[in-house]
Amino acid sequence: MSANNETTFNPGKGEGQSVGVAILGLGTVGTQVLRLLGEKAEDFERRIGGPIEVKGVAVSDKTKPRPGIDPELITDDAYSLVERDDVDLVVEVIGGIDYPRRVVLAALRAGKSVVTANKALVAAHGAELSDAADSSGADLFFEAAVAAAIPIVGPLRRSLAGDTVNKVVGIVNGTTNFILDAMDSTGADYGEMLAEATRLGYAEADPTADVEGHDAASKAAILSSLAFHTRVTADDVHCEGISSITAEDIAAAQAADCTIKLLATCERVTDESGKEGVSARVYPALIPRRHPLATVRESFNAVFIEAEAAGSLMLYGNGAGGNPTASAVLGDVVAAARNIVHGGRAPGDSTYANLPILDFGDVRTRYHIDLHVDDRLGVLADIAQTFADHHISLRTVRQEGANPGARLVIITHSAKESELAATVDALSKLDAILEVNSVIRIEGMDV
Ligand code: NDP
Ligand code: HSE
Repeated sequence: MSANNETTFNPGKGEGQSVGVAILGLGTVGTQVLRLLGEKAEDFERRIGGPIEVKGVAVSDKTKPRPGIDPELITDDAYSLVERDDVDLVVEVIGGIDYPRRVVLAALRAGKSVVTANKALVAAHGAELSDAADSSGADLFFEAAVAAAIPIVGPLRRSLAGDTVNKVVGIVNGTTNFILDAMDSTGADYGEMLAEATRLGYAEADPTADVEGHDAASKAAILSSLAFHTRVTADDVHCEGISSITAEDIAAAQAADCTIKLLATCERVTDESGKEGVSARVYPALIPRRHPLATVRESFNAVFIEAEAAGSLMLYGNGAGGNPTASAVLGDVVAAARNIVHGGRAPGDSTYANLPILDFGDVRTRYHIDLHVDDRLGVLADIAQTFADHHISLRTVRQEGANPGARLVIITHSAKESELAATVDALSKLDAILEVNSVIRIEGMDV
């Protein structure tokens, strides 16, 4: 855990002094940040106690037309920009990991505060960035990195710092929520709705990070680190995406009065030996239609928090897009600029708890298992015995005719991942099982 000390104490530039800002990246987010800084300049000055002066904007291609933007501001040399003496604060909205890591480290080491929207960077190198900020006494803010406009980093870092958070679960990727919601409401298949998400500009040209769950995993790592005072990186997060979800899976969920959502779940857990740890995981899951997260439509995000004293909290809103993301970036810009003018710094990272990461095999949840089986005497008994052999108790079993054979849809009680994996392996070896159509986890059944 960091603490301000004599060598890094920031006395502040003083009331009325300007704050020099460098913006790195002028794409979807950077364009809106720059526009709002210009349009709301007077308000920002009053909120901060001194004016914001944009000293430069770094881009990759200086020759691109940028209507309405002073060409004098544009540079393709981000390093030189962040090291200029008249720059106090750096806003990183480039994206990627390696390049922004180097520039952000250079800025922090030079004592410049940094605001970033880059979840991949924070999830992969949060510790290194935080150490650099602590060493120079700069601030490091990243509210926009998780669920864009939804204030979630600030509440976990500050508002809930006096409570014990036990669980954070949410829909933190807009692209996948749009696709799953559209599949649910139209019956269309994954490929069709991915194409629609791309056409509408939700999915990027390369949608891999969204649909394979990596974007949500970075966010889950950040949320877990903040919630449990423990350093969690994207590599610690079990991650499965939505690309294998079919129209049949959605229909099966509907038959169980559920919908399918890509959930990021961050949990404080106690294992059988009484040892506390952290589980962070991203996967598509069935949730009952009565669950509040089931009502999150289109590209919206929502995050649930369960804390010991506060109870349950839910935050909902725009998790992507230029303006919503700029809102979160600018909230951080105001906070960082106030410290630059008036002195002091925001609390640094708190990782004192240092809880171990729970093995994914020990995670417990319920499962929806869709099997294509032979329709003959004794098959159901063999299947039930296979579950019992692996200590998994069945909650419901539904049989439908199929041609040939039958379709069995099984919902289990809570079971361990490792036991479920062994069960599915054993089931797939039974002669009577023609195919394991799908295995999807179920969350939120207690609601
Ligand atoms: P864009 O791809 O729209 O913009 C990226 C910008 O970075 C472009 O202006 C590009 O320059 C510039 N850039 C690329 N390489 C360099 C470089 N080497 N040096 C300087 N500038 C460079 O990205 P977004 O605005 O969508 O996203 C920015 C960040 O915000 C990412 O980390 C993203 O994860 C995060 N974020 C985005 C959200 C969204 O909805 N878009 C939501 C929440 C977070 P050029 O203009 O010349 O191509
Ligand atoms: N690609 C992300 C999403 C942007 O779809 O939610 C916000 O991080």
